[in-house]
Amino acid sequence: MRRLLVTGGAGFIGSNFVHHVLGHSDAHVTVLDAFTYAASREALAGLPGERVRVVEGDICDAGLVDGLVAELAGAEGAVVHFAAESHNDNSLDDPSPFVQTNIVGTFTLLEAVRRHGVRLHHVSTDEVYGDLELDDPARFTESTPYRPSSPYSASKAGADHLVRAWVRSFGVQATLSNCSNNYGPWQHVEKFIPRQITNVLDGGKVKLYGSGANVRDWIHAEDHSSAVLKILERGRIGETYLIGADGERSNLAVVRMILEQLGHDPDDFDHVTDRAGHDLRYAIDSTKLRTELGWEPTYTSFEEGLARTIDWYRDHDDWWRPKKAAIEAAYAAKGQ
Ligand code: NAD
Ligand code: TYD
Repeated sequence: MRRLLVTGGAGFIGSNFVHHVLGHSDAHVTVLDAFTYAASREALAGLPGERVRVVEGDICDAGLVDGLVAELAGAEGAVVHFAAESHNDNSLDDPSPFVQTNIVGTFTLLEAVRRHGVRLHHVSTDEVYGDLELDDPARFTESTPYRPSSPYSASKAGADHLVRAWVRSFGVQATLSNCSNNYGPWQHVEKFIPRQITNVLDGGKVKLYGSGANVRDWIHAEDHSSAVLKILERGRIGETYLIGADGERSNLAVVRMILEQLGHDPDDFDHVTDRAGHDLRYAIDSTKLRTELGWEPTYTSFEEGLARTIDWYRDHDDWWRPKKAAIEAAYAAKGQ
């Protein structure tokens, strides 16, 4: 892979991937990012200018996308598609940008890679599969039926269906991945783990939705990046790979762990209004990725990964503090 167009490369996971790919290949990277509230120029600071170009623009802008994808044709190039509206709570407040970016944006990229015969890797989420019961012995696999619950997960499911249809009907050279919940540096303070860490660092209270029985399957963003690169290099065209690191924890357990690691009473949190339609449990079986492509996560201890993430937020308060007050005010207005 010599040239990559990374959409959403200034976001939490996309920026991690850009760093990862520069450190683990000789590829040149163009980042295409609309620089919404979720993007961060700081996350891309210090990258080698001769190998990285940043373009500010919208994946729904067909002319812009066509020109950038055309540059990849015949150059061992590929598009790695991270750009999305990514927060469930925001999708409940206003679904419109989710439909636009996640569905129309993916359609726009698909048409460009189809025209120019360029490889695509589409990044998606395990939330397209809906949720599991707490005691369900099964986990999500590549053959689990789609059953999305929220506008966010429905828009990602719609995008996944478009990618598969373009593979089958037009012969587009694409792979897909569906990953579980990520944590790590540069994650926006609107999301669960950074919100709670920064609440404690700010002298506020941790906010748990409902009873906290909901389970998420946590993976460090660095492991998500290494899996995407592996699929890009060795994945079979048309295939989907589930990415997960066996990190199931209830939200209550995570909240207690954050409080303990920060030296607080583990029961010193507020129960707040639950999320509408709140998915109960996600869990990934990543056997296909591990056995077929030989991928393994490096962050095998969630406790250790969380401790390093807490240290990172402690050291980067200049980055998150300016975003914090507005996010908390919006949550407070919803009783969360
Ligand atoms: P994020 O919200 O942190 O970043 C998204 C990036 O996309 C931002 O930089 C934003 O500016 C950009 N963007 C948004 N709309 C755009 C548009 N119209 N044109 C161009 N750029 C646009 O999201 P993230 O958590 O880094 O997620 C990245 C991808 O990974 C998404 O596709 C998401 O569905 C998927 N994913 C995320 C998780 C997770 O736990 N965060 C888990 C599995 C899959
Ligand atoms: P989130 O980070 O929004 O990811 P997702 O909705 O993609 O799983 O939330 C993770 C879990 O944490 C989810 O079950 C909702 C819950 N949650 C809280 O309990 N409190 C909060 O303040 C937030 C933002 C989320």
